[in-house]
Amino acid sequence: MFEDILTFDDYNFDGKTVIIRLDLNTPIDPKTGEFLEERRLKSHKDTLQELIDNNAKVVCMAHQGRAGEADFTTLEKHAKRLSEILNHEVTYIEDIFGVYARNSIKNLGEGEVILLENVRFYSEEETERPPDVQATTFLVKKLAPLADVFVNDAFGTAHRSQPSTVGFTQVLTSLAGRLMEKELRALTDVLKNPKKPLTFVLGGVKVNDSIKIIKTALSNEVSQILVGGLLGNVFLAAKGYRIGDPSIEVIRGKKYTDQIPLAKELLDQYEDKIVLPVDVALNENGERVEIPVGELPQNYKIEDVGQKTVEKYISIIKKSGTVFANGALGVYENPKFAKGTEMIINAVSECKGYSVIGGGDTVAAARNLNLEDKITHVSTGGKASIDFLAGTKLAAIEALKGSKR
Ligand code: 3PG
Ligand code: MG
Repeated sequence: MFEDILTFDDYNFDGKTVIIRLDLNTPIDPKTGEFLEERRLKSHKDTLQELIDNNAKVVCMAHQGRAGEADFTTLEKHAKRLSEILNHEVTYIEDIFGVYARNSIKNLGEGEVILLENVRFYSEEETERPPDVQATTFLVKKLAPLADVFVNDAFGTAHRSQPSTVGFTQVLTSLAGRLMEKELRALTDVLKNPKKPLTFVLGGVKVNDSIKIIKTALSNEVSQILVGGLLGNVFLAAKGYRIGDPSIEVIRGKKYTDQIPLAKELLDQYEDKIVLPVDVALNENGERVEIPVGELPQNYKIEDVGQKTVEKYISIIKKSGTVFANGALGVYENPKFAKGTEMIINAVSECKGYSVIGGGDTVAAARNLNLEDKITHVSTGGKASIDFLAGTKLAAIEALKGSKR
């Protein structure tokens, strides 16, 4: 891996201006604006400390949320928290590439750190195009001439081919940051040399993303995939189970109806490798009621996997050489329906082989249960970690490999 990607070991930062892409995207309480957890904010600490210690002039670039969503906001609080975490001033610059941002970069002293405004405030950022095209965007054209080197430490955003993740690699020497390096080392270990069987436990609500990667995963090294959450419901419907109107309505509301035939194709091709829930927990007027999938009443919503499913999944996890879990198996926010996710995470942490988790709810569950230390690698990536382990190439990693030297 590191024959073709430069790291901090390959560069002398002394006095150099560094543009670094971080992933600071953090769950935010829509009412109070407070951070709900701080994992990503803390994850770049070693990288930034090393740049400071080596007298670099540090320009941080990051995003928060997406336009139109409740957590789409400025990075002012992120800068404040980063300053506290580093015990070193990180100055918030309310600009991305205008005169104020560019002057702030020109005036940086050695060891000083600034954080530019949310790069997604600029509309070209959310387009996904190849690196050579992203190199011609305003962001890159305005900022790259002020810097000596580009660092990508944003593993969580490495699946995105956006100006801030791939554009600079075409015009500046580009390095993987320490967090990026750590993620790639840990995940490459799993990918290149997985102790078999390799099991994925996939849940969550991003059904279209998951369906796409299941095919890649099963045609590569993955032995079996255990499904739950909304993804599980889509597979149950694809298998012909009548999952009930409220659950069908959720699938329709999220515009995933077209994923049901795709799930069916996968089941036809990989019948024995995709493992479905055998029972589920319904939300019957606020109460948890567990029912086998063949006997579901039609008027309640499925909100978790049932006990029999949990037992079945645990026995597969126990026999796995490597297990990767991403996405909640139920409505994790509701304690009555968090049980499936929690029991599965517990089993993952007890797996004798290599265990990896990624994604917001999965990692939150591990933290709440105090299990983070018992898991081999807790990734800062959600989609990025699934894609990587499924065998899909990540745009920003490929861009680092093909970067200007
Ligand atoms: C994430 O949280 O998944 C990353 O920060 C990437 O964000 P995105 O899914 O909005 O591109
Ligand atoms: Mg996301």
